[in-house]
Amino acid sequence: MQTLTIRQPDDWHLHLRDAATLAAVLPYTARVFARAVVMPNLRPPVTTVEQAHAYRDRIMAALPPGLAFEPLMTLYLTGATTPAQIDAAHASDYVHAVKLYPSRATTNSDAGVRSLAECRAVLARMERLDLPLLVHGELARADVDVFDRERLFLDEVLAPLQRDFPGLRIVLEHVTTRDAVQYVEEARGRVAATITAHHLLYNRNAMFLGADGAAGMRPHFYCLPVLKREGHRAALVAAATGGNARFFLGTDSAPHPRAEKESACGCAGCFTAPLALEMYAQAFEQAGALDRLEGFASNHGADFYGLPRNSGTITLRRQVPPALPPITAQGQEIAALPVHDAAWSVDAVTPVAGG
Ligand code: DOR
Ligand code: ZN
Repeated sequence: MQTLTIRQPDDWHLHLRDAATLAAVLPYTARVFARAVVMPNLRPPVTTVEQAHAYRDRIMAALPPGLAFEPLMTLYLTGATTPAQIDAAHASDYVHAVKLYPSRATTNSDAGVRSLAECRAVLARMERLDLPLLVHGELARADVDVFDRERLFLDEVLAPLQRDFPGLRIVLEHVTTRDAVQYVEEARGRVAATITAHHLLYNRNAMFLGADGAAGMRPHFYCLPVLKREGHRAALVAAATGGNARFFLGTDSAPHPRAEKESACGCAGCFTAPLALEMYAQAFEQAGALDRLEGFASNHGADFYGLPRNSGTITLRRQVPPALPPITAQGQEIAALPVHDAAWSVDAVTPVAGG
């Protein structure tokens, strides 16, 4: 097979940032994806519908002419979020979900939720109005091993949350463990999960190996939830390629200045937008499942969010993608994930967004 044409995909988990970085990174996503769920962890975070509207306007203003792209906006849940704000989000046609960041779990999460007990009225309103809750699923307690944070979140936070709000639509974002996969497969409520391309392609060794397997420390592979051991990666590949509609594409592409990733206290996040679909195609091909890429990338997410599937198409060609130019914002280079041996490149897009 030399070419693969699928329905145009959407990215159900994306960081676009703001200002010069937004303008630098947005074209890479909009070139391929018809829509993307835009994460609200700006500084300060996007907590109100008015802020989401203004952010949406900035995104549309940064869009290169001729590209059709629809940003699906989200609100950042805090202890101060009110049911009235949920009403306003639901009444808008551009806010599609609310994001839960446990306090201190990840980049720009210091305004996040300390205890879900703070949010019960808001969660009840979201359940009633059927507004999805997107979850960064890590138990970020100092006494919990970083590699166990997702697994412990399932029992200590997610299961009680589902018990208390059984009708709430939930996306467990960027799952990284077989425990999370199993939770989503077996959950009785309305739970789905996004899976990133880098968690499908790499296990935690990628953070600790240099060229040709020599020893080394690779900050560009550091993201949260952190890459896990090989058995977990294999479980993610099985989930993504298995055809289960509860799993869909979310890149978690998270741009950071190169100087901040290559530093004594580097920040978490992998900027994968420039080669995201190519990376997913590689993972699906390695699993012998290219025929399942369209469901995962283009159908399952839209169906879960209750949005129409796109009617445009995109064609991938079996050919090494051209080398990327350095991507800069205000003179600072943005760190891109070093992707090796990509075998597929995006050839042509026939976009008809959102319809
Ligand atoms: O690695 C990550 N980076 N994980 C997150 O949850 C946030 C993201 C970011 O915003 O940089
Ligand atoms: Zn994210």
